[in-house]
Amino acid sequence: MNHSTLKPSATLAQSAQIIGLHADYAATYETLTYPNFWPVLHSMAENPSVVAVGAEVEGVPVGLAIACLDRSDDSVNREDDQPLQGQVLSLFVTPEHRNRGLGRLLLTHLETQLCDRGCQQLEIRYLSSPQSPALEQILVQQQWFAPQVTALVCYASTDRVRQAPPPHLVDYLGRWLDRLPAHYQFFLWTELTPAERTDLEQRMQGDGLMQRFNPFLDADRLEPLNSLGLRCDNRIIGWVITHRIAADTIRYTQMYVDPASQPLSRSTLLLAKAIQLQVEQLPHTKGTFRVDIDNAPMVRFVHRRLKPYLDEVRTAYCAIKILQ
Ligand SMILES: CC(C)(COP(=O)(O)OP(=O)(O)OC[C@H]1O[C@@H](n2cnc3c(N)ncnc32)[C@H](O)[C@@H]1OP(=O)(O)O)[C@@H](O)C(=O)NCCC(=O)NCCS
Repeated sequence: MNHSTLKPSATLAQSAQIIGLHADYAATYETLTYPNFWPVLHSMAENPSVVAVGAEVEGVPVGLAIACLDRSDDSVNREDDQPLQGQVLSLFVTPEHRNRGLGRLLLTHLETQLCDRGCQQLEIRYLSSPQSPALEQILVQQQWFAPQVTALVCYASTDRVRQAPPPHLVDYLGRWLDRLPAHYQFFLWTELTPAERTDLEQRMQGDGLMQRFNPFLDADRLEPLNSLGLRCDNRIIGWVITHRIAADTIRYTQMYVDPASQPLSRSTLLLAKAIQLQVEQLPHTKGTFRVDIDNAPMVRFVHRRLKPYLDEVRTAYCAIKILQ
């Protein structure tokens, strides 16, 4: 076993150890994080930006913390004033070993290792869950800044949408579609012409809002069924772009309508139309979307209109700690 053992806390069972993980041992901790972080663990040998710390009880892995350093800039020859940042990607303790101080120890040792590598600021992003109070308690104890709300993350299912009580999305859609002036036209995003794409890419260069809601990201997973565009007088003025993130789940990733062509109803109309297509053509599937908290009209729309169709709304938080 190729790992270094750090001093365990006196409050833990004697057999508990906190371990700085090395690449050849990290894979045994896979089950303690999400599959999307497995490649990160596997990359430790060739990627010095990744730091992982494990907790073992009687030789069995029971906790894992993973972080990465932001080395997008050359950290050795840095000339700007930006602090070298780290991000906690994953922090997990198996349920039967919680509330014994392991989570706090994992985070503390992660911080120490990151400090040793020159990290000046650490960030953690998480979604509200029944475990959030435990995490937040650790953050308070470890002198992190108070977590800030960054977004709402919404989860829905086609079954739930079908069962929702009136006034129903479909009625809403019908009412607003009737009022949509004739020079507006919905189309499937897959039918965007090369000339329209070129035009959009040019317009995006000088438009921060369009860049924020870039419709061309993650194109490999674009969902053809209900990614939609909106034309006005043959000019693209809006879109809702969806991605298939699992066999049964569509993520509603980007939604944009040119502010000059809004009311908000046009963008929500796009969304409602996309939802309707999923409900009709992909029964018993799920949907998810994220609304940044600074997008006040959409946040209000979620609370006032979309709640009946949602199985769950979780809050996304970000907390930071200055390390040195
Ligand atoms: C968050 C997590 C890692 C904490 O691990 P842990 O080993 O239980 O943490 P610790 O025992 O070190 O500390 C937990 C603290 O929260 C407190 N706590 C637990 N439940 C609480 C609650 N409902 N309300 C307030 N405090 C609570 C504990 O008493 C303890 O504080 P104390 O040391 O002052 O007694 C663990 O719950 C977990 O794996 N959750 C699932 C994954 C997750 O949410 N990860 C974070 C996002 S990446």
